[in-house]
Amino acid sequence: MLLAVEKDGERLTESEVVANVLLIFAAAHESTSYMLGNLLITLFRNPPQLALLRSQPEPASRAVAEGMSYDTSV
Ligand code: HEM
Repeated sequence: MLLAVEKDGERLTESEVVANVLLIFAAAHESTSYMLGNLLITLFRNPPQLALLRSQPEPASRAVAEGMSYDTSV
């Protein structure tokens, strides 16, 4: 799909597409893994919140969203 994108009559070369995909993969991997690390540290430093999440694991997505607001990786 990226190879087919055209702007002002120009297209990305194959190596430009590969470079962009690698950059996005690396950035996505770093931001996600650091975010998870920050969330785990925050939970271990706040045992009542960890206990609450353990007792009600269902809204885990809310804990992730809260963790990103509290201590984001970016
Ligand atoms: C917890 C994980 C993530 C965080 C905290 C995060 C954070 C951000 C932030 C703050 C921006 C805006 C940067 C700016 O405009 O200055 C951004 C942009 C972007 N992120 Fe993430 N991101 C995460 C995961 C991912 C993942 C997993 C992907 C792809 C698989 C991704 C792909 C992108 C892309 C493509 C943009 C540029 C969007 C645009 O400019 O239109 N991100 N991200």
